[in-house]
Amino acid sequence: MPAELVAIAHPETERFSTDEVIYTSPVSGSLLELQNSDPLPAPDALKKLWRERRMSNHPLDRSGVWRYRELLSFWPKFDHVVSLSEGNTPILDAPHAAQFAGLDHIQFKHQGYNPTGSFKDNGMTCGVAQARHLGMNRVACVSTGNTSASMAAYASAGGLQPIIFIPNGNIAYGKLAQALEYGAQTLQVDANFDEILALVRTLAERLGIYLLNSINPFRIEGQKTIMVEMMDQLDWNEPDWVVLPGGNLGNTAAFGKGFREMLAAGLIKKAPRLAVIQAEGSAPFVEMYKQGATALTANPKPETLATAIRIGDPVSWPKAVQSIDDSNGVVESVTEQEISDAKATIGRCGIGCEPASAATLAGVRKLVAAGVIKPTDRVVSILTGHVLKDPDYVYKYHTEKLDDPQGNRLVSRFANKPVVVPNDPDAIAELLS
Ligand code: F0G
Repeated sequence: MPAELVAIAHPETERFSTDEVIYTSPVSGSLLELQNSDPLPAPDALKKLWRERRMSNHPLDRSGVWRYRELLSFWPKFDHVVSLSEGNTPILDAPHAAQFAGLDHIQFKHQGYNPTGSFKDNGMTCGVAQARHLGMNRVACVSTGNTSASMAAYASAGGLQPIIFIPNGNIAYGKLAQALEYGAQTLQVDANFDEILALVRTLAERLGIYLLNSINPFRIEGQKTIMVEMMDQLDWNEPDWVVLPGGNLGNTAAFGKGFREMLAAGLIKKAPRLAVIQAEGSAPFVEMYKQGATALTANPKPETLATAIRIGDPVSWPKAVQSIDDSNGVVESVTEQEISDAKATIGRCGIGCEPASAATLAGVRKLVAAGVIKPTDRVVSILTGHVLKDPDYVYKYHTEKLDDPQGNRLVSRFANKPVVVPNDPDAIAELLS
């Protein structure tokens, strides 16, 4: 039985071929997910095979996504795959961050070590493979930065034309630079992320362009392997918690699916609890849980300096609900002040990350203080993007000039200001002693 695209709201009745260009069910509008009912090898055999592949120089084996291809078998062959050696991201110990959060230990799985600097590469390798499988020539996305850089790189590497739509004035400069360098046709639109996503969905259909935002179920498949790789790196010992930032909630959806499949395959015995952290000014998912609502109400004016999670109408929320419910997970929001302090703390560990990623440590600290996470719990926090994403944010924080979106100055508790010195060895020696 080949893999199928299944509507999550009507899994029995709405099933579609992977040869169709669809993102949501044309019948009910439900989100789609991939389902493959072929039996897998026994768990020990899979673990051994995946470990052995780390010694191989085959491009599919070297990829931290395609190494786990038994969980990604949607096509008869893998010849449409474009790999830039994505994944293979480290798990790092961070005692200083643990102390900040009130934990005995914390580990960061750093997706910023990916080829274009974020977890988007894990999903994009899969989405671009599907675009090529479908014979599409052009791919598009809306992005505040990471998605555009990633899509541009993978599309160009695979001989497709990338077209990116960015909210005017709301993209990190380094990311725009990457997209331009990788050859993306770049369109700036005077609207916010959610509005542009609706626009791009219309245009994709009208012009026959393949859409590669995280509504695309193939992206979610690539991203689920982040959790498979993590478990492999932890020798299949489940942590108590996996903490991640929530924007469009694609990762939340993907991680939940990854754990469901690992449980079903007998690869793990128990899924970790997921903790999804949003920025306070952009927290519709947290609001939904607080109010006990059964549907998400969009925030039309999301605000946060963590631009990657400045999303008011997250498309993947129904899948994210399943991930939270399945894992007995929690959702929490954090302030701009808390994000900035957590970010500087991760920097002081010699690790560094972008603002959206730092929301995780801020969230852990809050959840430890509230008694939800115990100090002895084993916590893996997912750093989704690289420290160089937002150098402007970093510089302003360390020079005590960082303002929140309302224009209020944040307190730079861990500021590390550059000092101007004269060209005079005595003066400098005095300063350094
Ligand atoms: N962290 C980073 C670094 C991101 O770039 C994003 C999303 C998220 C977290 C949120 O992840 O949507 O799966 O909940 N960035 C999008 C972009 C908006 O355009 O690059 P999610």
